[in-house]
Amino acid sequence: MSKILVINGANLNLLGEREPDVYGKTTLKEINERLSFIAENNNTEIEFFQSNSEGEIIDAIHNASGNYDGVIINPAAYSHYSHAIGDAISCVNVPFLEVHLSNLYNREDFRKVSVTAPSCLGVIMGLKEYSYSAALYALLDYLK
Ligand code: DQA
Repeated sequence: MSKILVINGANLNLLGEREPDVYGKTTLKEINERLSFIAENNNTEIEFFQSNSEGEIIDAIHNASGNYDGVIINPAAYSHYSHAIGDAISCVNVPFLEVHLSNLYNREDFRKVSVTAPSCLGVIMGLKEYSYSAALYALLDYLK
């Protein structure tokens, strides 16, 4: 049975109430429930981690090595400047898929660059909460 970790970064604990026009009205708990449902139906174990701290996210990435078959990560604003998180993803031999709820290409210029994405297999963005389920289906297929 494969095992997947979902990592969410800064401010994503506030999904549902945070800028709903940009990020949607679905809470992180609801997104995780949906992902658990998909995982269960695909004979896959799934675990969730959210932190607002860069160091804790880096520790969770290191801990993925040997413990998970794949990781879905939304580094949130860290995507745009945390080379430390990008390096951490490159350090571990586990496939990562980056997700964003919003479409970074139709937002402010500083969001158009992700310094973490080059360390990932690919990026899924712009589908609001469905970015996460699309990433999970893609990762399940990739791991087959
Ligand atoms: C985000 C996009 C980032 O620019 C922003 O800082 C976030 C959320 C997204 O999922 O659309 O916190 O990663």
